Order: sequence, then C-alpha cells, then structure tokens
Amino acid sequence: MNKDQTNTLAEKRDAMRKNDNTYFIDAQTGQGFDADIFLRDYWQQKPVVIKQLFEDFSDPIDENDLAGLAQEPEVDARIISNVQGKWHVEQGPIADFVTACQGKWTLLVQGVDKYVQDVTPILEPFSFIPNWRLDDLMVSYATNGAGVGAHIDQYDVFLVQGKGKRRWRVGKPADYKEVFPHPKLRQIEGFEPVIDVVVEAGDVVYVPPGWPHDGATIEDSLTYSVGYRAPDNLQLAESLAMMLDKGAHNYRFTDAGRTIQRSRATVNPSDVAALKQQLIDAINGEDFTLALLEAMSEQGIPEYPLDNSVTLEQVSNEFAAGISFIPAPGVRALICDGKRGLPRALYVNGSEFRFAKSDQEWFEVLASGSVLNAMCCQDAPSFTFLDTLTTLINNGYWEWLEN
Ligand code: SIN
Ligand code: CO
Repeated sequence: MNKDQTNTLAEKRDAMRKNDNTYFIDAQTGQGFDADIFLRDYWQQKPVVIKQLFEDFSDPIDENDLAGLAQEPEVDARIISNVQGKWHVEQGPIADFVTACQGKWTLLVQGVDKYVQDVTPILEPFSFIPNWRLDDLMVSYATNGAGVGAHIDQYDVFLVQGKGKRRWRVGKPADYKEVFPHPKLRQIEGFEPVIDVVVEAGDVVYVPPGWPHDGATIEDSLTYSVGYRAPDNLQLAESLAMMLDKGAHNYRFTDAGRTIQRSRATVNPSDVAALKQQLIDAINGEDFTLALLEAMSEQGIPEYPLDNSVTLEQVSNEFAAGISFIPAPGVRALICDGKRGLPRALYVNGSEFRFAKSDQEWFEVLASGSVLNAMCCQDAPSFTFLDTLTTLINNGYWEWLEN
C-alpha cells in the first residue's frame, strides 16, 4: 500500500468512526464501514461496534422458525436458561419447550444458514472474508434479561443484532478464571469491558478470538452470530493422517548409506532431521494440497440427494431453455485457478471437480453462488461444466431457482 492510499484510509476512518471501537454508518451515503480498514485495524486484533451496518434491518426468521428447527434431530440446538440464579442447559432436539423455557432463557440454533435460504443476505456484508473461513450462522432468541453468561470463544464472530435490544460487554484477552455453573456451560469471571454498548436491529459487534464477551438482553431479541473457523494443528494433522491412511504419500523411513556412529545409544541429529523431513515431504506433496482443499471446502452440509436423479441431457436442455439454478442453503464453493501449485478445480463440501482453462468463466460463476443460467457467460457451457452441474444437483448442492 502506498502513502497516498494510507492517507485516504486514515482520512476515511477518522471521518466515519466515533472513536477507536465504534463505527457509525452514514444513513444517507451508506459509508462508514470499510473492509480494508476493518481487515487492517480490527480483524483478529480488536473488537469493534459497527452501528447500523444493516440499514432498515428486518429479521428473515423468527423465534417460531427457530423453535421448529430446534425440534429436528439433525439440527444442533440448545436452550440455556437461568432460573433464580441456577443455570440449565437443554440439548436439542427440543421436545418440551415449556420445561426448557423457564426463567431467563436463550434458544440457540447452529448452522441456520444450512437450512434456511432467507438468512443468506446476513452473510453478504462479510463476504470480504473468504468462504473457507466461514463456519456457520448461529441464531439465538433470548428473552428479557437472558444471556449465556460471560465467556470466551476461540473463533472470530460478527454478532448481528436483529429485533430487540442487547447490551454487549467485551473485554481484553487475559487469563480469566473459568467456571462451569453447569457441566455444559463454560463461563469466565471478572472481565473489565473495553466495549459496553447497547445494540439495536442492524448493529454489529465484531469479537476476535480470545476476547471475553457477555450479551445481556434488554428486550426479547434475536442475535445472528456469523462465526468463523480456524483449524488448529491437530485438525490439520487429521487431514494428513486421513490422506496417509488412504495410502497417498505414506513412504517409510530409509537410511541407506548410514555410517558407523560412536555408540549405538547415541541419537544422531541427522536421523531426527530425516524423520522430520519425511513428514515435511508428505506435507509439501500435491496429495496434501488436495487433502487441505477438500477439508477447507468441507461444510458439513446435510446431504439431500435427489430421489429422482436428473440426467446430463435434462440439465442441458433446461439450461438451454433459460432455467436458473442456485446453490442450496449454506453451500459455499471454493475455486482454484490452477496457479501457484494449486489445481484448476471447484470444491464443494469436500468434493473436487477439475475443469479446463476454457471453462474457467463458467466455473467462476458457479463458485460465486449467484443465480446461474445460460445468460451468465457469452460462451456456451461445456460438457464438463454441465456434467458438474448435474452432479451438484443430484447431490442436493444446487437447485432450481423457484420463480
Ligand atoms: C448468543 O447469541 O446469545 C451468544 C452468542 C455469543 O456470545 O457467541
Ligand atoms: Co460468544
């Protein structure tokens, strides 16, 4: 970034923000939040409140929809309640709401983006963060005075306020005392807030990993948590182990050319270096790149393969007839353009689809997640593209756009 650009960013920032931890979006111009500034000054570094990031916010879902989802066995949901100072956690599927919803209670539903297409626009303002980092959209409904208590998450989160009001307090990372007021509830004690704000519909609080936070509901409220993921070494090692288990790159240690050493008990540092190198070679190999790309695109999307699968011919005819397709709820593809050691391929929920350079434009439209139809590109789609689309439709990852 050159000096002029830095100045412009600094000027924009100073003009738009009230102080170091609050942005106000100008209702007329929509200006105020700048993704460049956010990435430079806040992402993974410090929390920030973005007032009215969503202008005229209207909830795409309500507490009844959430309750419906929470009854489904495949949906990860829970109700956290506090009855006269005593915490309870009811894990979904929730069968008896009357018993679970006592005192001050919060209903939390994970992965709502995977079930409800209407929540997709909530993810839109955050699309400057790549698809693979996004984990899911959790939605919570909390009654007056309720909250899940002060806690620390290991992941970045944008807390988008829907209807109602909530007071968020966010503190600095430190070695806080952990408490478990219920076996399924991890809270912390005694943080001093650096942010203490009441949010309303359309406001957003960004909380980086490790920053304690506590949201107390002031008016019955919906909160949309756009949560991110960041694999740790154990998770990466699991991808490596899975690849090796399939037989790819699972070479064995060899030591031809060994020389006599002073004592057989002595460990030769070059043996340790060779063992490390053996693993480094496996990591640097193409197989591990593919294993990583598959893991990065893995979203735990529920698979609903079509009962009556469609043929390539049917899809081709429909495509030619101008019919439009869209990704199923929560499906977020990844794409690589064949450069810098990466293959030219599309990745959807852990599956790879290779394509030729001439197909790049069509596959980019597919990966963008926007409405897909014959008008999207000038060139006619290739057999490979239509074949991939057919597979995606049959696996339940893409579907017909309903008019
Ligand atoms: C909530 O929605 O009540 C909790 C969200 C969070 O603190 O991560
Ligand atoms: Co949290």
